Amino acid sequence: MSAPVATIAGIGDYAGQVVILRGWLRGRRSSGKLLFLQVRDGTGTIQCTLFKPDLAEELFTQASHLPQESSLIVHGEVRPDPRAPGGYELSVRDLEIVAVAGEYPITPKEHGTAFLLDHRHLWLRSSRQNAILRVRASVVRACRDYFDARGFTLLDAPIFTPAACEGTTTLFAVDYFGDPAYLTQSGQLYVEAGAMALGKVYCFGPTFRAEKSKTRRHLTEFWMIEPEVAYLDLAGDMDLAEDFLVEVVGRVLAERRDDLLTLERDLTALERVQKPFPRITYDEAIERLRSAGKPVEWGEDFGGDEETVLASEFDRPVLVHRYPAAVKAFYMKNDPQDPRLALCVDVLAPEGYGEIIGGGQREDDLQTLERKIAEHGLPAAAFSWYLDLRRYGSVPHAGFGMGIERMVAWLCGLHHVRETIPFPRMLERLTP
Ligand code: 4AD
Ligand code: MG
Repeated sequence: MSAPVATIAGIGDYAGQVVILRGWLRGRRSSGKLLFLQVRDGTGTIQCTLFKPDLAEELFTQASHLPQESSLIVHGEVRPDPRAPGGYELSVRDLEIVAVAGEYPITPKEHGTAFLLDHRHLWLRSSRQNAILRVRASVVRACRDYFDARGFTLLDAPIFTPAACEGTTTLFAVDYFGDPAYLTQSGQLYVEAGAMALGKVYCFGPTFRAEKSKTRRHLTEFWMIEPEVAYLDLAGDMDLAEDFLVEVVGRVLAERRDDLLTLERDLTALERVQKPFPRITYDEAIERLRSAGKPVEWGEDFGGDEETVLASEFDRPVLVHRYPAAVKAFYMKNDPQDPRLALCVDVLAPEGYGEIIGGGQREDDLQTLERKIAEHGLPAAAFSWYLDLRRYGSVPHAGFGMGIERMVAWLCGLHHVRETIPFPRMLERLTP
């Protein structure tokens, strides 16, 4: 009977047994008759020890010169070793070399970010990048599970759209059989239609912004999860965003603790993400910025610097609500108490990560919305379908969008969002 095929993550189930492990060589060192191969298989890394007298001489010699990232299949006995990172090592009985790698461009020495991004297709193999990708996958699953478990229906929004949702300055135009079309900036307008059809919906997909700025928080292609709920107001929307974040952070902490530790993340900062989150108005935010020596004129939007200062005053995400309507999107409902303000909310993550969620209550009055579309200089014809939602049974409704990459950057404690997505797209990067 041949040995079972094991993964490094599940190797503990086979202590004392001979298993087959399939992976790639991360590194090697030798000491006399012993050769140590660091083998990774996508689930982890394990040390495989080869004892010269146990193997054919030719194979031992070949293994001693095997280049980094060569692919190999190891047959070995699983030995508990308290000094090993995963608690086990493999005592090698036999080795199959699947493919000898060429000279691997990413060596253990330090490389610059541009070089690593040029080799992103290979960089993904590093243990840090493995950890980030697994955290991202857990974030996505946790977000979907959150809404799926609460009666929301997934409603996929289109990628080709006829009009702007988030302002005309960041549109990517494409030629659609001779007519202009745009890559979607947000699925929101479509999930609004979905909410009128199904009550509670969400979409999850890639969104695009022709961001001309080079900041650590901006990508031109990013993934957004956007819930939308009929008969929900701003207060309810803020409750939803808060509950959602607490759940998702808790899930990722539980599922990906080891990966977060690989990334040297301070877990106590994430464990503090509990209800209630502080809620402050834009006006209060202005006061706080002034006191912190970062004055902003009333009416201006906040940039990354202001968000960092505000968020640093709290130990958990802070909800900033009711920004001036003039700096926000056309679809936002004005505050009946003070029409200069929009019924909107931004959630700012602590530790300098800034806005991770943007949302609010939508304008539900037909005439007001028609006027706003005109005031924003948007083409009325492209929005006539959207206005139908106000013509036929309009109700108060609200929702928000959370950028997956900003969330992953915060959870992993990464300086820049470029490492949170497998293949980042930015102002000056379209490859690989
Ligand atoms: O605040 P934004 O622009 O809001 C909307 O698009 C709404 N239509 C969402 C809604 O209410 N359904 O974007 C929402 C979130 C931001 O908080 C941020 O997390 C992320 O999307 N985001 C970006 N992430 C990476 N790169 C960019 N260029 C981003 N722009 C926004
Ligand atoms: Mg925003």
